[in-house]
Amino acid sequence: MSVVSRSVSRLVPSTIRTNSIVALQQKCYASTQKTDLKEVLRELVPKEQKRVAEFKAQNKDVSIGQVTVDMVYGGMRGIKGLVYETSVLDPNEGIRFRGKTITECQAELPKAKGGEEPLPEGLFWLLVTSQVPTQEQVEWVTREWNKRAAIPQHVVTMLNNFPAQLHPMSQLSAAITVLNLGSKFAKAYSDSVPKSKYWEYIYEDSMDVIAKLPTIAAIIYRNLYRNGTAVGAIDSEKDWSWNFATMLGYDNKQFVDLLRLYLTIHSDHEGGNVSAHTSHLVGSALSDPYLSLAAAMNGLAGPLHGLANQEVLIWITKLVEKIGDSPTDDQIKQYVQDTLKTSVVPGYGHAVLRKTDPRYTCQREFALKHLPNDKLFKIVSQLYTVVPKMLGELGKVKNPWPNVDAHSGVLLQHYGMKEMNFYTVLFGVSRALGVLSQMIWSRALGFPLERPKSLSTDGLIAFVAAQKKPATGAGTKA
Ligand SMILES: CC(C)(COP(=O)(O)OP(=O)(O)OC[C@H]1O[C@@H](n2cnc3c(N)ncnc32)[C@H](O)[C@@H]1OP(=O)(O)O)[C@@H](O)C(=O)NCCC(=O)NCCS
Repeated sequence: MSVVSRSVSRLVPSTIRTNSIVALQQKCYASTQKTDLKEVLRELVPKEQKRVAEFKAQNKDVSIGQVTVDMVYGGMRGIKGLVYETSVLDPNEGIRFRGKTITECQAELPKAKGGEEPLPEGLFWLLVTSQVPTQEQVEWVTREWNKRAAIPQHVVTMLNNFPAQLHPMSQLSAAITVLNLGSKFAKAYSDSVPKSKYWEYIYEDSMDVIAKLPTIAAIIYRNLYRNGTAVGAIDSEKDWSWNFATMLGYDNKQFVDLLRLYLTIHSDHEGGNVSAHTSHLVGSALSDPYLSLAAAMNGLAGPLHGLANQEVLIWITKLVEKIGDSPTDDQIKQYVQDTLKTSVVPGYGHAVLRKTDPRYTCQREFALKHLPNDKLFKIVSQLYTVVPKMLGELGKVKNPWPNVDAHSGVLLQHYGMKEMNFYTVLFGVSRALGVLSQMIWSRALGFPLERPKSLSTDGLIAFVAAQKKPATGAGTKA
């Protein structure tokens, strides 16, 4: 019996317990086929608010785990301290978006005409509502994002004035921050809108910023790598990824489909990863979605997080420079060994996952289908056969298997996107879908300011000493 159920049984009579927990397990769904996402949310929010309030009221004192000194010093690994609705990560199975695996999303989410990969618009609808959308609902999201895509001139001017040396992620983060001039939530808050309506403005800002991200990213790309050529206009008949690819300057149909897959699978990875947790934390201060998302992007820009996809490609490029594009396994082993003398092997390992990342696997399947003879893909495959055993032999790496970043760059290279510094921007555009759909729910459910307790080492030592002190028995009193 788990800690949770043991504790529950102490608090609540068994029949009431069974009935109420079963009732609470019933997920709330919208009953209609409405295509307006905000209308669907209006139906869902009160139901989910009621379910969460009842659960909290009935179970507020139930313990769900314990915290050790190792966890406190170990980056809070394993501490259950966050509620994050949109996705959950299983160490062995990988991510589930609202209960659906990547394979299920690929099969069930609507596709563009002629496309084979899911539309990120559909994934966003799923994350926000828990329901797989219809084709009409997805088309509504596309139209809505296309309508909201315009960028204020001052943001364009700012981007155009950035020095070429400024990393694309810094540019992205700065542009998102500055967009908060148009935040509907910030304005509503200063106009004293009631707390019960916060989510509606978070929703508006989220839709606005998601709509604008491809254009911002494309301006950054063209300024840095295409001599500042114009991104062109949004085609209101085309989907978010098609417009993004086109503004970047790519018209290959396979690349567009790759982008749809890429933007779907990088969206969300439960709540504890650096970017999701950052946006959750900053949003809890009621900073608007622009400020919260920009903060998330700054976390994503770290080499142990999103920047790893750039690092992987740099590392593979150096491998090719050093040992050629058709290396033997022994040459690869030597290269990995040399890397381990000074750094980690990028694209391998994970803080939670303990198996090959399904986001890696679906990209591998894409490559096997569309570019089986690509030389860099062959090296990525060869690394897959060599690296896990070597990392396993180190004896300290908890997960020797590849993560999402081990594969994505090679696919982008194949279609001509060679600018590795830009890869994390694509990741960031996708990550917005996950963290912002959660932010709508964080405000709808009234989550408070996040404020965990910290301790100094001295304080921790004193606390542990007090715990270890033998209990004073009844005899002391006498
Ligand atoms: C993702 C990552 C940061 C997770 O870190 P973590 O949860 O601390 O991982 P572990 O608990 O397995 O780390 C234990 C040890 O193994 C090492 N390790 C983990 N992954 C490694 C890798 N890919 N190559 C070499 N060593 C690695 C850690 O550096 C640590 O060593 P230390 O005790 O000497 O500091 C880590 O695996 C990593 O740096 N991977 C490479 C970067 C990357 O791909 N990031 C993208 C993640 S999606």
